[in-house]
Amino acid sequence: MFPDLTWNLKPKPCTEIFGDQDFELITIGCLISDMSKSFGQSDLGISSYVENLTSPEADPIWKRIRQSAADAGMPSIHVGEMDGQHLEVLSRALKPQKVVEIGTLAGYSGIRLLRGMNASGMLYTFEFSRMHAEVARRNFVNAGVAERTKIYVGPAIEQLPQIEKYGPFDLVFIDADKTSYPAYLEWTIKNLRSGGVLLADNVFGWGGIAENMATDPETIASVEALRKFNARVVESGQFTTTFLPTAEGLLFAVKN
Ligand SMILES: C[S@@+](CC[C@H](N)C(=O)[O-])C[C@H]1O[C@@H](n2cnc3c(N)ncnc32)[C@H](O)[C@@H]1O
Repeated sequence: MFPDLTWNLKPKPCTEIFGDQDFELITIGCLISDMSKSFGQSDLGISSYVENLTSPEADPIWKRIRQSAADAGMPSIHVGEMDGQHLEVLSRALKPQKVVEIGTLAGYSGIRLLRGMNASGMLYTFEFSRMHAEVARRNFVNAGVAERTKIYVGPAIEQLPQIEKYGPFDLVFIDADKTSYPAYLEWTIKNLRSGGVLLADNVFGWGGIAENMATDPETIASVEALRKFNARVVESGQFTTTFLPTAEGLLFAVKN
């Protein structure tokens, strides 16, 4: 039932948390929840050095959000500490006014993005799970950003058309079900402004993007979708693209 990720990851049964919910991303998320999300993972000394120097979660809000998710029995699949820092620094630099996030979880990455936005900036965030959305809603209230946040519950691809009237958008961050990344990209191409930024997490396919050694169909499908997504971003001619070499791989592209 679970992907063979022993080549890279430590499997962890999801059924303890989610019963018989058959939900691809949650499953993969549980499986990877034990993986190191350190920045500079290939050199743990550098990783520790950077994390100690920058203390990316010195503000207690970040641990509180992680704890709120754990208390609710949610998988620990928030972006890593340094990835949260990357999102906040990028957002502070870009000062986006209208941001779309696909994959809310408990609101961790959304609040990181909101920290960099103008006081009048809006975050439109999409979450499949009603329970995750409810935990996120409480975290947005506690962080004092609820009025600048709209949460849409359900499959993102069905919900996204609702916000097209507010576009075009300044930044889109994709961090949900991997097999839908290509569809999210087509939506982004139509709804991101010229000069706007596309960010997407996990684009290294948990280490399998270059050589996919997974054997289970679920992981193979996810990695294939990520390959298709990465190639389309680059080959569409719509973006100037780079890949930030984080542990998960963070695609960073500017729309031409
Ligand atoms: C990796 S987590 C997001 C983590 C979040 N960005 C953070 O770092 O705080 C992915 C989230 O996407 C949600 N999700 C999965 N498939 C989805 C879909 N089709 N539409 C909307 N949300 C989805 C999952 O329920 C999960 O909460």
